[in-house]
Amino acid sequence: MSSLGKKYIMALSGLVLVGFVIGHMVGNLQMFLHPDWINEYAYKLQNLPYGLLWVVRLVLLVCVIAHIVTAILLVVENKRARPAGYVEKAHLQASFASRTMRYSGTILLVFIVFHIMHFTVQNIHPEFKELETQLEGVGTMHHVNDKLTAIGKTHVHDVYSMVVHGFGPRFWYVSVFYIISMALLCFHLMHGISSMFQSLGLRNAAWRVRLDRIALALAIVVFIGFASIPVASLTGILEPITPLIATH
Ligand code: HEM
Repeated sequence: MSSLGKKYIMALSGLVLVGFVIGHMVGNLQMFLHPDWINEYAYKLQNLPYGLLWVVRLVLLVCVIAHIVTAILLVVENKRARPAGYVEKAHLQASFASRTMRYSGTILLVFIVFHIMHFTVQNIHPEFKELETQLEGVGTMHHVNDKLTAIGKTHVHDVYSMVVHGFGPRFWYVSVFYIISMALLCFHLMHGISSMFQSLGLRNAAWRVRLDRIALALAIVVFIGFASIPVASLTGILEPITPLIATH
């Protein structure tokens, strides 16, 4: 495959992943509304019809794999193409974010694996599975309660309390790991979004500075949006509505 082809794959898979990250951040910010909001939302996602949840998971997995494989291929290709003396100069010209893409990317991969074990599989704290709550019907999707009644259920998984407990003072080191990972995500997006515009042929001279500013603004919004949740849980701004029973 040509180097341009690889750059297109990096850009398109990156675009899908950025779309997911922004959607996930907006979804998570419902934590700052009534707990019903995020709990109803999580219930809805978990119970999407036609196996749609697995379709989305598969698309994300394919994009992550494509993004990593093409990144490795491009690094190898660049190393081969570049004469030894040029390395130092290219290194000096590239920004800090661009030079560290492979490291921020690798740590983000570790973060994602940990994160899925933490909140989706819940095998790091199995007691998170026990957190359940009754919806008061405050959110936007009031019919969830009718659906629950129809299937003989009264409670949903209390995702709200799971997240607050997960980031609470007892697990402060988990919050620190998340906040550092979000800072790395911010760096990764800053350079990644600019490169994406370049690879898709959108970053001409007139738009270069503007697009770089858009990338920087997006990366900062993503950092604040995500990091606000562990910070609010650590400082007691967010409080769980269901206590954690088992000791860990
Ligand atoms: C403070 C920041 C974050 C919080 C509070 C958070 C919260 C959550 C929660 C609660 C779930 C599980 C939903 C459920 O199963 O009910 C989840 C799943 C997930 N999150 Fe996050 N998340 C955060 C940051 C991120 C970031 C930065 C990424 C990616 C770079 C990410 C990627 C994912 C993925 C891939 C899943 C699995 C989705 C699935 O297959 O079910 N999250 N997150």
